[in-house]
Amino acid sequence: MDKIIIEGGNRLVGEVTASGAKNAVLPLMAASLLVDGWLTITNVPKLRDIETFKILLNHLGSDIETDPGNNILKIRTKDVASPEAPYELVKTMRASVLVLGPLVARFKRARVSLPGGCAIGARPIDLHLKGLKAMGAEIVIEHGYVTVTAEKLKGAKIYMDTITVTGTENLMLAAVHAEGTTILENCALEPEVVCLADALNAMGARITGAGTDTIKIEGVEKLNAVEIRVIPDRIEAGTFMVAAAMTRGNVLIKDCPYKSLDALNMKLREAGAEVIEEEGGVRVIGDWPIRSVDVKTHPHPGFPTDMQAQIMAMMTIANGLSVITETVFENRFMHVSELKRMGADITIDGKCAVVRGVKYLSGAPLMATDLRASASLILAGLVADGKTEVSRIYHLDRGYEKIEDKLRALGAKIDRVKA
Ligand code: UD1
Repeated sequence: MDKIIIEGGNRLVGEVTASGAKNAVLPLMAASLLVDGWLTITNVPKLRDIETFKILLNHLGSDIETDPGNNILKIRTKDVASPEAPYELVKTMRASVLVLGPLVARFKRARVSLPGGCAIGARPIDLHLKGLKAMGAEIVIEHGYVTVTAEKLKGAKIYMDTITVTGTENLMLAAVHAEGTTILENCALEPEVVCLADALNAMGARITGAGTDTIKIEGVEKLNAVEIRVIPDRIEAGTFMVAAAMTRGNVLIKDCPYKSLDALNMKLREAGAEVIEEEGGVRVIGDWPIRSVDVKTHPHPGFPTDMQAQIMAMMTIANGLSVITETVFENRFMHVSELKRMGADITIDGKCAVVRGVKYLSGAPLMATDLRASASLILAGLVADGKTEVSRIYHLDRGYEKIEDKLRALGAKIDRVKA
């Protein structure tokens, strides 16, 4: 298995471009199941999760063409051989459940392995299923799989008890072909939900309200294949922003979705960094000492749970005490024990991590446990004294495109070694 090796201590300086957003590409790939022509998606990053989704679509019967040099993905689904997402694929990527809605909407049946828990929490899909049931689908759970069938989904008013990103997307994907109007309440406001709604509207759907807590979908009979450009990845961009701030760097992050990162921008400024919106991107200039800030994760536009591990890495070397509260997932502090091995002073109490800033971290061999935890360990390695070796980086490859190349171009001493 590959490892990342970092020699800490270098300031990051220069320019880096954010890739397309993984969490926007996956629902668009699911949306391709709704049309029988070629859906073209551009600005697609090269990531393991996207490869996994391609395998899933291939398994269902989709044709896929890629132009990796130009980050283009074309998908056509004339028919599905078997509308099933098998355990082997769902267990490696929970977002596989996004095929449920479109498969039922167009092919009247879907069978998807129940995702179960994962490293960061229980993560059920009960709200996806409740919504489909409200739209008239029959749901049967047996042998670890959920089978959803509906001759024709019907519009319904659906309130989601918890804000769920893929739940909102799945129900939107299902409702575009439903008979009548669907109203989704307590929706996720994430930019990736808006990207999906915009894409579906470009395909001929009638969706209003995406980006607010109430989304209205009027069912249509047919959608058309179009070309869609994926929005930039706010979490990847945010990770580079923290990297710049932590290393006392000066980095222009191009294609950075500044407005989607309001909560992070504020926290970085509170911590003493300059965050400047410039033509073509966002510049972050870090300064030491870093000031401790408290952070509480929330659904968008709150501070993203997907940035919690990275801001914690920054707080480990801040001046003072920081309380980081995770409210979205119940077990998302897997990076803490690894950061502590580098000398960080962190105490966990339920949903809160109390971080007392230390003078320096020391490089150590580390093990990545999930996607964003991996990013936090890389950030810690960038400022640590000596050598840090991060193993199990297949987690990182799920969601960061060539992170080592991008960081090296900014002046980091970082390499990937093939084991
Ligand atoms: C998405 C993102 C992920 C991000 C997360 C929260 C994708 C592919 N992934 O994951 O990167 O960390 O949003 O911003 O877009 N829940 C239920 N029942 C459900 C669905 C969710 O109780 O049916 C709970 C979850 O356990 C969790 C919370 O709702 O506590 C939010 O999860 P959700 O927004 O659904 O996360 P994902 O969509 O899986």
